[in-house]
Amino acid sequence: MEVKEATGRLGVLIPGLGAVATTLIAGVEAVKKGIAQPIGSLTQMGNIHLNRKKGNNYPKIKDFVPLANLEDIVFGGWDVYEDNVYVAASRAKVLEQHTLETLRPQLEALKPMKAVFDKSYIKNLDGTHVKEAATKYALAEALMEDIAQFQETRDCDRLVIVWCGSTEKYIETGDVHESLSAFEKGLKENDPRIAPSMIYAYAALKMGIPFLNGAPNLTVDIPALTELAKQTQTPIGGKDFKTGQTLMKTILAPGLQARALGVKGWFSTNILGNRDGYVLDEPDNFKTKEVSKLSVLEDILRPDLSPELYGELYHKIRINYYPPHGDNKESWDNIDIFGWLGYSMQIKINFLCRDSILAAPLVLDLALFGDLAKRAGLSGIQEWLSFYFKSPQHAPGFRPEHDIFKQLTILQNALRKLMGEELVNPEGLTFAEEEITA
Ligand SMILES: NC(=O)c1ccc[n+]([C@@H]2O[C@H](COP(=O)([O-])OP(=O)(O)OC[C@H]3O[C@@H](n4cnc5c(N)ncnc54)[C@H](O)[C@@H]3O)[C@@H](O)[C@H]2O)c1
Repeated sequence: MEVKEATGRLGVLIPGLGAVATTLIAGVEAVKKGIAQPIGSLTQMGNIHLNRKKGNNYPKIKDFVPLANLEDIVFGGWDVYEDNVYVAASRAKVLEQHTLETLRPQLEALKPMKAVFDKSYIKNLDGTHVKEAATKYALAEALMEDIAQFQETRDCDRLVIVWCGSTEKYIETGDVHESLSAFEKGLKENDPRIAPSMIYAYAALKMGIPFLNGAPNLTVDIPALTELAKQTQTPIGGKDFKTGQTLMKTILAPGLQARALGVKGWFSTNILGNRDGYVLDEPDNFKTKEVSKLSVLEDILRPDLSPELYGELYHKIRINYYPPHGDNKESWDNIDIFGWLGYSMQIKINFLCRDSILAAPLVLDLALFGDLAKRAGLSGIQEWLSFYFKSPQHAPGFRPEHDIFKQLTILQNALRKLMGEELVNPEGLTFAEEEITA
């Protein structure tokens, strides 16, 4: 496979310049200034194991695959509020104010473009920085104009879009989403089942721009848009950044399953007080998140294969809006497990995390890998990026992979394949033996 070099500037466009996006943008600026480290980003900090006899067989990922440099990234985006990135980041209260002050000129210069928004999809937001047009099709055209203008004025060679907008209300796929022609008809007829995030995705894919979805909304996970992605040879991926509680779940559950320990119940509850939490306080929006979070355990534990261990599993998830905690989400998990002869045990996890601190590096990696995929000629669903998602988008008829360790192997093997290196088999035995005797 031939991967084109990452020459010139990469425009990273973000619908939703809220807590996650502003933490990312300020973070990249801080790293560029040399005042902070990009911790949590695999593309910047991670290494990859290669089956090479000579030379460095554990290089940094960024030295192994041709990724855009942070210096070559230009940010832009849309929001329903007019606040520039400095104001939005100060409001989000994720990063310390003195850090934001040192980056103030760069952050203030970044002002959101007017959003495509529909309040019926997010009842708890009331922003007015919103585009007006007669049809959803015209709104998509307006977004395409924004994108073309951004590319020209900011002198970008390539673009990538990562959805960091709020979680939209729960909807299921209907006939309007089933084919590209039905979807385009729906855009022209203002079909209410076409969500704003889908309009952004349509605009991106029409222009051949990779689109990654960090929220649990369907967005690009509908047949119409996977069809368009194939047609315009564009990489897509989603859904819902895997951070916090679900990250912990997909680290721990594979271990319990590996040891054939039974799991009877897994109760997860969260408190958070940021704008995301406020949006999720609305039951229709929480439902979208709940569905995304619930799928994880079943796919890892496979009650269909081991009903005696996982057949009775009761999985419950709650998110509670609690303003005093802001972005510092606190989660509790109570896990009822059982072992030899059925004797019961309990595990308790109390994770005092920082939501946007965990999510920001994922946005960076997805932007850089989305751009890499495009330069490598990959298109359609990028299942190798499942590592980053709570509810990985996958081809119909296939099971998504949730186990974080398997996801990492799949991601690294995709990189090895792109660069013409030998794949490492997941068991790793032959590989390990050769290495020890080398
Ligand atoms: N932080 C995490 O750990 C995490 C993990 C997984 C998923 N997510 C998802 O990422 C998204 C962003 O999270 P956040 O904490 O930054 O939320 P946030 O509320 O701080 O930011 C979201 C922003 O999107 C804007 N927005 C909403 N609809 C829009 C539209 N149609 N067009 C443009 N902008 C729009 C809002 O005005 C807001 O500023 C949410 O959907 C959240 O559920 C976050």
